[in-house]
Amino acid sequence: MSLSLVLSDILHLSLLSCILLCESEALKEARQSVRKFPDGFQFGTATASYQVEGGWDADGKSPSIWDHLTHNDPCSTDDCKNGDIAADSYNLYKRDVEMMRELGLDFYRFSLSWTRILPTSFPDKINEAGVQYYNNLINEMLKYNIQPLVTLFHWDLPQKLQEMGGWTNPHIVDWFSDYARVAFELFGDRVKNWITINEPSAVCFHGYGSVTLAPMLNIQGVAEYMCAKNLLVAHAKAYHIYDKEFRPTQGGTIGLTHNAFWYEPETENDVELAEAVRQFEWGQYAHPIFSKTGDFPPVMKEKIAAKSAAQGFKRTRLPEFTSEEVEMVRGSSDFFGLNAYTTFLVYKNESLEGYYDVPSFYDDYEALTYQPTHWSGAASVWLKDVPWGFYNLLTKIREDYDNPPVFILENGYSTRGGLDDDDRITYIRSHLNALLDAIEEGSDIQKYTVWSLMDNFEWTRGYTERFGLYEVDYESPQRTRTPRKSAFVYKEIVRSRALDPHYEPDTTVMTIDEGH
Ligand code: NOJ
Repeated sequence: MSLSLVLSDILHLSLLSCILLCESEALKEARQSVRKFPDGFQFGTATASYQVEGGWDADGKSPSIWDHLTHNDPCSTDDCKNGDIAADSYNLYKRDVEMMRELGLDFYRFSLSWTRILPTSFPDKINEAGVQYYNNLINEMLKYNIQPLVTLFHWDLPQKLQEMGGWTNPHIVDWFSDYARVAFELFGDRVKNWITINEPSAVCFHGYGSVTLAPMLNIQGVAEYMCAKNLLVAHAKAYHIYDKEFRPTQGGTIGLTHNAFWYEPETENDVELAEAVRQFEWGQYAHPIFSKTGDFPPVMKEKIAAKSAAQGFKRTRLPEFTSEEVEMVRGSSDFFGLNAYTTFLVYKNESLEGYYDVPSFYDDYEALTYQPTHWSGAASVWLKDVPWGFYNLLTKIREDYDNPPVFILENGYSTRGGLDDDDRITYIRSHLNALLDAIEEGSDIQKYTVWSLMDNFEWTRGYTERFGLYEVDYESPQRTRTPRKSAFVYKEIVRSRALDPHYEPDTTVMTIDEGH
C-alpha cells in the first residue's frame, strides 16, 4: 500500500501540476480581483440538532440513537464526550440568532430533533415544550429577516425506531412521513425551505454498513442497501405529502441534501472506474431522483447483481424498486441539495483482491480511493482543500442532471481550535471561487452554506475537531461563543455580496450592521 501510495502521489503530482499550470490566465486573473455574486444569491450557515442543542432529555424529549450510543458506549467518541449539553443551543438560541445577525445571514440551516417533537416516535403525542423551542428559534430568526432552512432528519433517529430495524424496516416510510407531516403542520406557515434527509449515504453506509456512525451496525454489503431503498422511498413520500397537501397553501420548496466527494481518476485507465465510484458513492441517491430514467444507477445494479450471484446469494443484495416506487422517487426534489467538502483519487491495482471484507460496499465497487499526502488539509483526516474537485463536481451535476437549481447546504473546514483560522478562510475563498467559476459556466447555484455557525459535536470525533465560524468554549457553563477571524471575513462576503481575496478584517469587535 505504501509503495502504491508513493507511485500514485507521483502520478497525481503531474496531473495536479497540469491542472494548476493549465488553468487559464483569465481564471487566474479573476481570482486576484473582486468577484461579485449574482443578484439573489443567498448566504447561510448550518448546524444540526444533536450537534448543538444539548437538552438531551429536557422537557419530555426521549433518546435518539446518538443518546443511546454515547451513553452506552461513552468512548465510542474520540474524547469520550457526548451531546448531552453540546453548545447548549436549547437554552442559548437567542445568542445563536444574534450571531446570525452579526454575520448578516440570509438564512440559517438547522435540524429538528424527531424525539423532541414526538417522544413516542409517532404522532400520537406531540411534545409542546419541544415545539415551543423550535417556535422560539424560528420566530426569533424571522424577527430579523433570517429565513429558516429546516432539515427534518440529521441522523438522530429515535432509539425506539432503531430497535425495530430503523432504516432497514420498510415501515419507516410511514414513520418518517408521519413525522414530516407533523413538522409541515407545525412550522410550515413560516418555514419555506425544507430538507427531508441529510446525507443519505452517511446514514446508510456509515450507520448500517460500517462502524463510523450510530447505530454502527456494520452489516456490510446488505444493510446499507436496504437502508438506501427505504430512505429514498421515505424521502419521496414526504416530498409528495408536502407537494400535494402543503405547498398549495404554504408555497415552499423541499429536497434532500446529498453528500458528494469528487472522485478523480488517478490515470486515464481509471476514468471508467472513477465514474463507477461516483455512481456508487452518491449517484446511488442522486440518480434515482435526478436522472431521466430514475432507479439506482445501472452500474450499481449490474455490479452488485453479478457479485451477489458469484457469492451464492439467491438474489441481488441491492433491493429493487417497484415501477411505482421508481416513479415516486424520480423528480422528488425541487433542488439539488449538496454537502461538498473534498476530493479523492480513484485507482485499481493488482492488490485489490482480498483488500476488503466480502461482501461489502467497497468490494462491490472494486476500486481504491485515497488522497495524496501533499494535499493540504484540515484537522479531519479526510478533509483536504481541493477546490478544483468542487468545480468538477458542480460541473458534473449541471451536465448529468440538466442543470438543476443547486443549494450548497454544507461546505467547511475543521481545525483543532483557536481564533486565528487563516486556513479556513483560504478554504472558504477557494471554494467560493470554484463556485463562481461554475456559475459563470451556467450552473444554477442559488445558495451557499458554511458548516458551521459554531463549533459542535463532530459525531465520533467528539469535540476534537472544530468547524465553527464561532468558537465555543466548552469549559464555560455559558458555552461562550467567540467569533473567529473567518467569521469577520464571511461577514464581509455576505455584506458586500462579493469575494475580495485581499480583504483583511479588523477582528477587535464584532457588531451587528444596520438592518439586521
Ligand atoms: C456532514 C454532516 O452533515 C455534519 O453533521 C458534519 O458535522 C459535517 N459534515 C462535518 O463532518
